[in-house]
Parts: sequence; C-alpha cells; structure tokens
Amino acid sequence: MNTEISWEDAYKNATEPLPWDIGTPAPELQSAFQELDMAGRPALEIGCGTGTNAIWMAEQGCKVVATDLSATAIETAKEKAKTAGVVVEFAAADILSEGAVESESVDFVFDRGVFHVMAEGKRGLFALRVASALKNGGYWLCLAGSKDELRENPDNGPPQLSLAEIIDAVEKSFEIHRVERSNFTLPNGAMHVAWVVLMRKR
Ligand SMILES: C[S@@+](CC[C@H](N)C(=O)[O-])C[C@H]1O[C@@H](n2cnc3c(N)ncnc32)[C@H](O)[C@@H]1O
Repeated sequence: MNTEISWEDAYKNATEPLPWDIGTPAPELQSAFQELDMAGRPALEIGCGTGTNAIWMAEQGCKVVATDLSATAIETAKEKAKTAGVVVEFAAADILSEGAVESESVDFVFDRGVFHVMAEGKRGLFALRVASALKNGGYWLCLAGSKDELRENPDNGPPQLSLAEIIDAVEKSFEIHRVERSNFTLPNGAMHVAWVVLMRKR
C-alpha cells in the first residue's frame, strides 16, 4: 500500500471494512498478553483504526488509550466500544506529535501495521514516541510487513521492512525481547508475511 495515502480519506470513503480491518483481535496480541501477564495494566494502541484490538485490551481489564490519525476511524471505534460495553480513551492524534500521549503512562504499547507505514526518516521518531509513552521496562509489540515476502508489485500488500530496518530504528530506545515470523491474514484470504517484534524499553 502507498504510504502517502490520506488515512482519513480512506476511512471516510470506505464502503466496506478496509483490507487490514479484520474485525477480530490479533492472535499475536493475545499471546503477548498471556506471556507478559498484561491483563489489568495500562495500555496504549497506536493507529488503532476502528478499535478492535483496543477494545479487546479493555475487555482484559486494561485502562486503554488508543489513538489514530483518522477522526472517522476514531468515531467508528467509539461506537464499537459502546456496543461492547467497555471504556477506551480514544483520540484522533498523530503519534509523531509531541504530547500526543501522556509520558510514562502505560506498561504496554501495541501497533499493528502502523510503524511499518512510517517513512524511513520518521521511524526513529516513532520509536521515541513509543518509548516516551511507556513506563520504564514497558513493552512494545509491533506487527510489521516483512521484506521476506517476495512480491512482483511491492504496492500489492502492506509495506515491507527488513528486520535490520526495524532494529536500526528502535535499538536506541528498545532491547529486542523476541522476534517471530507471522502473517497478516486478510478477510479476502490473502496472506502477507509479517514480523512480530516484542521490545522492552531500555
Ligand atoms: C494499516 S492501518 C492499521 C489499522 C489498525 N492498527 C488495524 O490493524 O486495523 C494503519 C493505521 O495507522 C494510522 N496512522 C498512520 N499514521 C499515523 C500516525 N502518525 N499517528 C497515528 N495513527 C496513524 C492510520 O490512520 C491507520 O488507521
């Protein structure tokens, strides 16, 4: 997908859920929660889209803040949280802006397909913003498209990063706790290779 896309336009003009909006919580998020015993602890989702994963974290007893650039996505997410009967502090905000999220306020940050849409020159800043939101020793779980997937047309699927590109942007602020290979499975059945990177704030 082209990273120059206007996210707000994409959500506003959509007549059906966007390709990444699978409507079920990410299994990688569920595993990390179990591994780290995160239920009940303050959490942040960056680029939450229509809120499925933020709502799932709230259902685990977490105080959740969730942000997205798109006001339309945030409105949909608020409706979904209401229907689910959970409280999530949703906000339309650019994570790259200073002060978008309160400093050292959460134990866990989740991003699914957001770090990977950042232009190369913005990835370090993104990692700094994540680190700033986390308490000391907090964790960031990042799901990102992988360059290990061979594609004829690179735009035909999520952006693709090498592990070296990810590590280069995050290593100053994070130690790598675990890296796995997984897939983004889309509602149309398409599968794209993904990195699952669990990091701990230094
Ligand atoms: C590929 S979508 C993934 C959405 C959601 N995480 C999911 O899995 O359904 C990328 C999301 O990141 C959001 N986004 C892009 N740049 C952002 C930024 N600088 N700050 C906050 N959100 C951003 C977009 O609006 C979009 O909802």
